[in-house]
Amino acid sequence: MKNIVILISGGGSNMAAIVRCAQREGWHKALDAQVAAVISNRPDAGGLAIAGEHQIATDVVDHKRFPTREAFDAELAAAIDRRQPSLVVLAGFMRILTPAFVERYRHRLINIHPSLLPAFPGLHTHQRAIDAGCKFAGATVHQVTTELDYGPILAQAVVPVLPDDTADALAARVLTQEHLIYPRAIAQLLPQL
Ligand code: GAR
Repeated sequence: MKNIVILISGGGSNMAAIVRCAQREGWHKALDAQVAAVISNRPDAGGLAIAGEHQIATDVVDHKRFPTREAFDAELAAAIDRRQPSLVVLAGFMRILTPAFVERYRHRLINIHPSLLPAFPGLHTHQRAIDAGCKFAGATVHQVTTELDYGPILAQAVVPVLPDDTADALAARVLTQEHLIYPRAIAQLLPQL
């Protein structure tokens, strides 16, 4: 069985979309895969309750308890490795990871970013796209490399930027697409792992 471990920091709507897709499409049988655990760096992340409702194991590794990024990443890796993962999925996980962590999960660590990479890595992607006068925005699923919001692209979705868009309105439009492309990208990747 290929174990998927999903890392979250907040609401976990992408995680929920992946879990729902896995159940709907029967990944257990069809892909010999399961979402084995959801791990948050924030004890108050809303997504933890959603995972619990789906009977998925949850863990919290609170970054505030660790003096350095290295110490946090080491504990996070220990929590992940307890689940023997084939794939580690960053789903709104808002921590910068150390090169050692990224290297440990090379080729089995993916992320979703709310922009059309390589445009707008980092934060505030929607406001930056609006400010730049972009006519289109979107989301990208990519393999994680040591460079932030970079790495081979697995999937993208495009949405229009509308004339009176706010960052929140654009974010909501993009998020709807994220929920479609992230589960699809994972289902396509799993047979290669
Ligand atoms: C999503 O829009 C995701 O693309 C973004 O955070 C949101 C999390 O929502 N991720 C990043 O900005 C990573 N740099 P969710 O918790 O509801 O899935």
